[in-house]
Amino acid sequence: MNFENILVSIDNGIGQVTINRPSKLNALNKATIQELHDAFENLENNAAVRVIIVTGEGEKAFVAGADISEFAEFSVEEGAQLAAQGQELLFDFVEKLRTPVIAAVNGFALGGGLELAMSCHFRVASDNAKMGLPEVSLGVIPGYGGTQRLPQLVGKGRAMEMIMTAGMIDAETAKSYGLVNHVVPQAELLEFTKGIASKIMRNSPSAIGKAIKAVNANYKHDVDGFDVEIRNFGKCFGTEDFKEGTTAFLEKRKASFTGK
Ligand code: COA
Repeated sequence: MNFENILVSIDNGIGQVTINRPSKLNALNKATIQELHDAFENLENNAAVRVIIVTGEGEKAFVAGADISEFAEFSVEEGAQLAAQGQELLFDFVEKLRTPVIAAVNGFALGGGLELAMSCHFRVASDNAKMGLPEVSLGVIPGYGGTQRLPQLVGKGRAMEMIMTAGMIDAETAKSYGLVNHVVPQAELLEFTKGIASKIMRNSPSAIGKAIKAVNANYKHDVDGFDVEIRNFGKCFGTEDFKEGTTAFLEKRKASFTGK
């Protein structure tokens, strides 16, 4: 896969996507959003890829937001379209992938950058990371799902304060809020995240995909999450992974899973 704004590699079942515009602090322009969509779709459809890690190039930024230079002149209609297209192509798309996606937040994750990290299934941060939704300082609101996912992750009061003040929180505060699961020294961020990925890869990919779907259903108002859980629990019984997992347990050996 060859892209202009991102780097993609696959190693030992882990797909790594690195946003690669360090001179612009990896800001998300339209082209980068399209490339990220294409890369995620490709990795999702690759049976060999069991976990995806997303990070930013350089030591300073994960992603410092949507590219402000691209939308400064937009009209009301263009603004709405920007948010709708971005959500569909990238943010909702990532959240719904059946391949686990971990954000390795290696520096500033602001605006669309924090929104991208929040679309991932969970987050690990380096100790220098700073997170925030500064949109109201520019006269807009978060448009890539931030007003929805931040309260889901940190609670309404903290989300309101972060959004209204447009301020940044450091990695330890983010951890205490539940926004990131772990904070590690920057030099160890990728190895640490890959360690979590290895633990995930011991388990059934098809079951993990169904678990993601059921957990996500908890945050959708138009579906009954318990019902989604029941249906997906049932579907597991028809998979090769289920046969392998239960047989391996009974035969006292390590399971070898294939399906995604
Ligand atoms: N969109 C477009 N360009 C961006 C950007 C963004 N969101 N964030 C950073 N950049 C660019 C800067 O314009 C600058 O480019 P230049 O060298 O061509 O002038 C380059 O990245 C480096 O950023 P700079 O501001 O010089 O770095 P800094 O260390 O002084 O400040 C930040 C770092 C993150 C505090 C600052 O870049 C910032 O506030 N960025 C915008 C964050 C934001 O509001 N995001 C939400 C957008 S909706």
